[in-house]
Amino acid sequence: MTIAKAVNEQRLWQRHMDLAQIGATAKGGVNREAFTPEEAEARKLLASWSEARGFTCAVDEIGNLFFRRAGSDADAAPVVTGSHIDSQPTGGKFDGAYGVLAGLEVLEAAEDSGITTKRPIEFVAWTNEEGGRFQPATMGSGVYTGAMDLEEMLSVKDRSGAVVRDLLPATLAATPNADKRPLGTKFAAYIEAHIEQGPILEMEDRTIGVVTGIQGTRWFAIEVEGAEAHAGTTPFSARRDAFRAAHAMIAEMYELTVDDKDILRFTVGCFEVSPGSPNTVPGHVYFTLDIRHPDGAFLTELGDKVEEVCKRNAGGLPFKVRETYNVPPIQFDADVVGRIRDCTKALNLSHRDMISGALHDAKYMNDVCPAGMIFVPCEKGISHNEIEAANPADLAAGARVLAEAMIALANQ
Ligand code: HGY
Ligand code: MN
Ligand code: MN
Repeated sequence: MTIAKAVNEQRLWQRHMDLAQIGATAKGGVNREAFTPEEAEARKLLASWSEARGFTCAVDEIGNLFFRRAGSDADAAPVVTGSHIDSQPTGGKFDGAYGVLAGLEVLEAAEDSGITTKRPIEFVAWTNEEGGRFQPATMGSGVYTGAMDLEEMLSVKDRSGAVVRDLLPATLAATPNADKRPLGTKFAAYIEAHIEQGPILEMEDRTIGVVTGIQGTRWFAIEVEGAEAHAGTTPFSARRDAFRAAHAMIAEMYELTVDDKDILRFTVGCFEVSPGSPNTVPGHVYFTLDIRHPDGAFLTELGDKVEEVCKRNAGGLPFKVRETYNVPPIQFDADVVGRIRDCTKALNLSHRDMISGALHDAKYMNDVCPAGMIFVPCEKGISHNEIEAANPADLAAGARVLAEAMIALANQ
């Protein structure tokens, strides 16, 4: 029996539905941000499923959580898959959860079919992939590979002043029986399965995206300092209006990011006006930029203009620009990409090569081991939205490709 035949569509679907109960929102999505009690609860559920199948569990200093099915060579580096179980504040049931649960399904399918591998096979739930509350995103995989500094990440604060260092113990306490794994422990290869989060596969009626790379991303956090004043009495000439300056900065950035080809992505996702009263001229504004493009040189040039655009539009007010994330575009390992494509063809699944518009932990894995990704369609391409949807057959198809590719790599 091949491993693909042992992938159980119904079980994989039910696991999604069960996990989505934790942090479930009224609109059918999940709110399970990193370092929350909900995310810790989800870790417990993963651990209970894995324990029931005899898989061993390990956790590292930033909370990345690994589950292993042993291979015949205990000293061999594992072949690893995974993604994340943290979500956006208004996230869906599948972003991240799919890659983790597809990983669990591969290990269970191997168990059910009695398939043995030389290398151990593992799935991982990376810590704080989304970065909605604590920037940067992909924190767990960044720290694991050494691209991000552990101490620096432990000191990251959210907007209310909560610190990662203070919240992490509760996250770690969710899996008290986990072994301690040193950061950077080597992988033989890494493959991540994910919903596409875009409309292409669905539009073209294809089941599998063979992901060849990820576009680049830069994030900025900008603060403008004005002076609070009475909205009814203070003449324009005497105002130091932080909103007005921020508005001008953002207006020029929207002009700069017009792209006829619609390849460039530009988002102002956070915008806070203080003190937030209709009749007080704003004394402080905080906002964020998310800029993405597949061409690294273009992204560098554009991102490097942010400071000067702010200066030009600040109207003399003090401002601070902090870059919170800078990830150049990457290309995945040709052999892993080729293997995913071959497995997809062998399973007779319609497919296409594509690059990822979203970021994934596979980016950091690609720095340290051969890596690749598998996409499956999601409804209308909608993601980072509570109505995000995917269908059981597509999820199972992606898990079959993942399973075949992992088993082949684990016997190399
Ligand atoms: O923002 C992203 O691309 C991802 O969802 N972390
Ligand atoms: Mn994701
Ligand atoms: Mn996401």
